[in-house]
Amino acid sequence: LIYRLFFRLVLMRLDAERAHRLGTRALAALGWIPGVGAALRGVTHPRTEQLEVEALGLRFPNPLGVAAGLDKEAACFAMLGDLGFGHVEVGTVTARGQVGNPRPRVGRLPRDRALFNRMGFPNPGAEAFAERLSARPPGVIVGVNVGKTMDVELADAADDYRATVRLLAPLADYLVVNVSSPNTPGLRSMQSVEELRKLVDAIRGELSELGLVTPLLVKIAPDLSDADVDAIAAYAVESGLDGIVAVNTTVDVGALQRSTAAERAAVIGGISGGPLKPRALEVLRRLRARAGDDLVLISVGGIETAGDALERLEAGATLVQAYTGFVYGGPLWPRRLLRELAKSAGARAA
Ligand SMILES: Cc1cc2nc3c(=O)[nH]c(=O)nc-3n(C[C@H](O)[C@H](O)[C@H](O)COP(=O)(O)O)c2cc1C
Repeated sequence: LIYRLFFRLVLMRLDAERAHRLGTRALAALGWIPGVGAALRGVTHPRTEQLEVEALGLRFPNPLGVAAGLDKEAACFAMLGDLGFGHVEVGTVTARGQVGNPRPRVGRLPRDRALFNRMGFPNPGAEAFAERLSARPPGVIVGVNVGKTMDVELADAADDYRATVRLLAPLADYLVVNVSSPNTPGLRSMQSVEELRKLVDAIRGELSELGLVTPLLVKIAPDLSDADVDAIAAYAVESGLDGIVAVNTTVDVGALQRSTAAERAAVIGGISGGPLKPRALEVLRRLRARAGDDLVLISVGGIETAGDALERLEAGATLVQAYTGFVYGGPLWPRRLLRELAKSAGARAA
């Protein structure tokens, strides 16, 4: 209730990106105060032993993670872990630091419990990430989501991704190749199996030069056709990819149900949150049906309740992630969701 009031009275009056920065900066600052993380853990961590997940050679304390884009600077992942999340996907990070698209570039669609953004990967660059990740405390599992530097030509994308992987693979629990943001021109064209193969082969080449076997996943868009989703599932199995993160934001304004015509007209970039739910579930089901049991599937898009998370896990998700549900739900949202999820898991086991 307090967060809802704070959201309505304070955060909703701020520009969405400013409110976001305020939140992540506050978390990062709290993280610097000795003892705060541990104290927070005491309050916010539900007992979730029965929710542990073994995947990617790691033991996730629970299946709920933070989706990429929330900790864009690798500045507050430890505190996000303290709030209850079992893993945090930091980034998207690019080889060189960049400012992203001009502002305003984030907006809210509260009637649909959604957000839209065309951030364009603002981030401090792979070197800054390396510094932050090398000082990371043990505890939270950190995935690194890698994207293409905006002003690098698509033809040179593989070298650009490789440069980031070179610096960050040694510090990441898993890597995600992001080819699905709608806000970097041309990026989504790398989802074709032919292009994806070149990119993944290049990154694998880099990993093998480093002598690393860091798990490698690909993040895909909800706007792919069903045939393209099937082709990526087949490619993932055939090439031995470790997993797929599905899905990124959608450019389909038709997915909005309750927003007004004026609100729809103001949308720029990709939509996240409630409207993504049906397509995220559909893509997950397709991937699981075609990829078999072994591929790790991280389902993301419109997860707002324990029921949503459970539905994804039952539809074949190995893990789930959220961004928009957390923004609307507030700092105690992960704890609430996990508690309910643990109860449902307990009830099923009994
Ligand atoms: C403001 C904002 C920024 C985002 N930035 C990234 C990003 O940098 N990289 C990425 O892979 N996904 C990014 N996403 C997409 C999320 O990771 C997620 O795939 C999408 O929002 C769907 O999940 P949700 O409905 O729980 O928000 C961003 C989403 C939002 C709302």
